Amino acid sequence: MTPSASGNGDGVETAAAALARGDLVILPTETVYGLAADARNSQAVARIFEAKGRPRFNPLIAHVADIDGAHALGRLDQRAERLADAFWPGPLTLVLPLANDCPVCDLARAGLDSVAVRAPAHPMARAVLKAFGAPVAAPSANRSGRPSPTTYADAVAETGSATGAALDGGPCAVGLESTVLALLPGEPARLLRPGGIAREEIEALIGPLLQAGDDARRSPGRLALHYAPEAPVRLNVATPGEDEAFLAFGAGASTGALVLNLSPSGDLREAAANLFAYLRAADRLKPAAIAVAPIPMHGLGEAINDRLARAAGFVG
Ligand code: TXA
Ligand code: MG
Repeated sequence: MTPSASGNGDGVETAAAALARGDLVILPTETVYGLAADARNSQAVARIFEAKGRPRFNPLIAHVADIDGAHALGRLDQRAERLADAFWPGPLTLVLPLANDCPVCDLARAGLDSVAVRAPAHPMARAVLKAFGAPVAAPSANRSGRPSPTTYADAVAETGSATGAALDGGPCAVGLESTVLALLPGEPARLLRPGGIAREEIEALIGPLLQAGDDARRSPGRLALHYAPEAPVRLNVATPGEDEAFLAFGAGASTGALVLNLSPSGDLREAAANLFAYLRAADRLKPAAIAVAPIPMHGLGEAINDRLARAAGFVG
């Protein structure tokens, strides 16, 4: 059984002790809930893949408390230092060349000679990382092929039964996974996954980014079909059918029992925070399909449209 904890100091200690035992932990972050394990312990990491029902061993993000923790795992060049300075703790993951003696186990890196590192901003995640004092591997806490959980209840329903502890950190403020950026020696910076930090914010600091495209070698996780609700998803819909659930965006959208507005004021940040929870809510209505209004492509819109394309099955 999973002891749940409300996020008081005891909860943090319980979670850190569970990680040290090699157990899994439901860990709230500002992006989505994570399913966490000691990143050094390959048996614990193997349990993550098992609990998620992941068909393949995709590389996982190693979470650290701060930039010092990142230096122990990967080598940060000037670009990485500048971005870490600006956006950590926060929803940015840097794929870096391995530091000497990087403790993150092979399985968590899927055997790659690079490591994905992130310092999350959620105070509870930070407290656990500080108490544990070592890197924590954590993919989103959903079972494979389902939307990432952005609430405690959704996270526990997905993978809670496999965990030794679960922390309730409230609804996730960002609601979308982190932006994943590769900063490898002799290569231009490459956007592997749009996410909680907008491309424009990164480009303002280090110049234009290359698009990852479908580069399977560098980002194997991009090949998996993620974020798929049960109902089929239709994108860029102006007028939904009567038997369809509708994810609207902006003022003046239609209303009704099957309509959920991602952001009535047209705020992309709010829409990102609501996206996964609303996809789940729409799916629970058992509609013929989930129709989604057009979402602008700027700022967080790039990440929202990426996740919607995956939900619709356009990105295999
Ligand atoms: O917001 C987030 O990033 C959440 C929270 C829990 O931190 N985590 C998350 O993890 O979304 P996950 O496992 O669902 O996504 C990790 C992404 C995958 O697309 C994976 O392929 C990529 O990061 N990745 C990890 N290590 C990599 C590496 N060494 N090279 C290239 N891509 C890597
Ligand atoms: Mg995921």
